[in-house]
Amino acid sequence: MFSLALPLLSLYLSPALAATAEQWRSRSIYQIITDRFALPQGADLNACDPGKQTWCGGTWNTIRENLDYVQNAGFTAIWISPVNQNYEGPRSAYGDPYHGYWMADVSKLNDRFGTADDLKALSAELHKRDMYLMVDVVVNNVMATSLSPDYSTYMFKDSSMYHPYCPIQWGNTTSEQHCWLGDEKVPLPDLDTTNPTVISQYGDWIQDLVKEYDIDGLRIDGAHVQMDFWPGFCAKAGVFCMGEVFGGIDIDAVSMYQGPQSLDSVLNYPLYTALVSAFQIPGPGNMTALADVIEASKSKYTDTGLLGNFLENQDLPRWHNLSVDPQSMYNAMTVNFMTDGIPVVYYGQEQLFSGGGDPYNREALWPSSYEKTYAYGLMSTLNQLRNFLANTTDWLKQETNVLTTSPYGMGIMKGSVISIVTNIGSPPQNGTHIAVATPFDPSTPMTNILTCQQWAVGSQGMVEAQYTAGGVPVIIIPSDHLAGSGICGAALATTAANGGKADKLSSSASSSFDPRQSPLLSITLHVLSCSLMALFFFV
Ligand SMILES: *[C@@H]1O[C@H](CO)[C@@H](O)[C@H](O)[C@H]1NC(C)=O
Ligand SMILES: *[C@@H]1O[C@H](CO)[C@@H](O)[C@H](O)[C@H]1NC(C)=O
Ligand SMILES: *[C@@H]1O[C@H](CO)[C@@H](O)[C@H](O)[C@H]1NC(C)=O
Ligand SMILES: *[C@@H]1O[C@H](CO)[C@@H](O)[C@H](O)[C@H]1NC(C)=O
Ligand SMILES: *[C@@H]1O[C@H](CO)[C@@H](O)[C@H](O)[C@H]1NC(C)=O
Repeated sequence: MFSLALPLLSLYLSPALAATAEQWRSRSIYQIITDRFALPQGADLNACDPGKQTWCGGTWNTIRENLDYVQNAGFTAIWISPVNQNYEGPRSAYGDPYHGYWMADVSKLNDRFGTADDLKALSAELHKRDMYLMVDVVVNNVMATSLSPDYSTYMFKDSSMYHPYCPIQWGNTTSEQHCWLGDEKVPLPDLDTTNPTVISQYGDWIQDLVKEYDIDGLRIDGAHVQMDFWPGFCAKAGVFCMGEVFGGIDIDAVSMYQGPQSLDSVLNYPLYTALVSAFQIPGPGNMTALADVIEASKSKYTDTGLLGNFLENQDLPRWHNLSVDPQSMYNAMTVNFMTDGIPVVYYGQEQLFSGGGDPYNREALWPSSYEKTYAYGLMSTLNQLRNFLANTTDWLKQETNVLTTSPYGMGIMKGSVISIVTNIGSPPQNGTHIAVATPFDPSTPMTNILTCQQWAVGSQGMVEAQYTAGGVPVIIIPSDHLAGSGICGAALATTAANGGKADKLSSSASSSFDPRQSPLLSITLHVLSCSLMALFFFV
């Protein structure tokens, strides 16, 4: 437990944002494994081998020093790996706790990643940039190296505070909630979160942690504890809570953890699973599965706008490991940003990292030289549009509708934004097209924000994507809806009302990436003047 004086001091010195679910709705999150994001000046840039499962040297300070890279891609929040003290015994069968998830005494900080002041400085720097800090917390379990551990150095020292050992049977909710994650080599003893002492100590701990470090939101690891634990815990934290509940495409298994009975938000595993099944190349190419998940999500979750939409994380193989053709990622990413939910991007996705599952998916970012890749630019543009619409319209509250599905793609619409995505991959296909019926009047001028090309809606509201230059995503919006955005040459809003902040974010995103100069996107993708359509080019 922290001393009482420190939280008071930090409240006095810095504004406690304590962001709510409503404030997080408009955010876009960049997920960081602290140890792997950036090195201090002068460190050896070649020394990190993820297969070695040991520390590579990233810290809270090095995250703070490299926030431009995150902010210039339009992200408005970071999620960092756990900050609390880990297991400190001899190296385990799965290496060292460089990832931060192997809890021992959560009441202390993990001094591998810096000091309390370093973490406060990171938080303060984020707030100065109008960004949020989300911290990963592990409440479900601790880590041990035997099935009968000595808990004397842990925050919960008495074995009666843990469930007795049993291996998890996935799909059995009781077992998921009571049994132990991990395996016999590295067991993860499961806290009994019905125990009143556990509930009250965890409550005091999270309240202090959030206040002390001015944390804006929590990402909760392994949130499959009995769900009525969460409302009290998150009320103590006083901030947005996004939980990790593993699941495949089964929405019910995950959606039961979102709502007043449990958490504000869950990570969107069903959408992830559907995106893989729709866009992986080669893969089943199942667009129906994706359309089904998008439609069913609307009735099954209490609030789809708060879900965390991702393509990668520290547990999953990188997208590029599952599917080498980069267009598969660009199309899947377009869905994540342009459908309901909060986009979450795992560091390194923008560098097309291709590691397999744990530990190969925790590559060091520095060998990439933080290059402004095509994927980085695509994220910037997607964030720029989303940030603009979030600020100026009720776009975030409008539900996504599937307008069209075809065997190799689909058209979705959220607010006035139509996204046409495909799984045909990079090779050009002359005969392939996806026609989408829109609610717009014929001849309405539209802008494809990824190429800045102007489209015109055809007769009966039809638009059509053609793939003579390969299967790129298309995002079109009525051109007059971009006024004030700075996107594709549209004027920026005047700065009077917002102190220039909108201008800063928009222009930094567009200066780091000009889609018109990108070789990949200079390709033509156009509305065809087949018999249904009129064709206009404005630029
Ligand atoms: C589910 O798991 C619980 C806890 O381990 C166990 O008692 C129960 O028998 C399991 N149910 C089934 C159907 O296997
Ligand atoms: C596609 O996914 C749906 C689930 O939405 C499933 O019913 C169907 O069998 C799948 N089709 C293929 C070809 O895998
Ligand atoms: C996927 O990851 C595994 C393990 O890191 C690696 O051996 C394999 O080459 C990767 N595949 C691709 C396509 O990158
Ligand atoms: C597609 O059509 C263009 C001209 O319309 C032609 O140059 C190109 O070779 C065709 N590509 C394929 C793969 O058929
Ligand atoms: C949106 O509005 C917030 C609050 O006024 C501001 O901080 C932010 O920079 C704006 N972002 C954009 C992209 O307009």
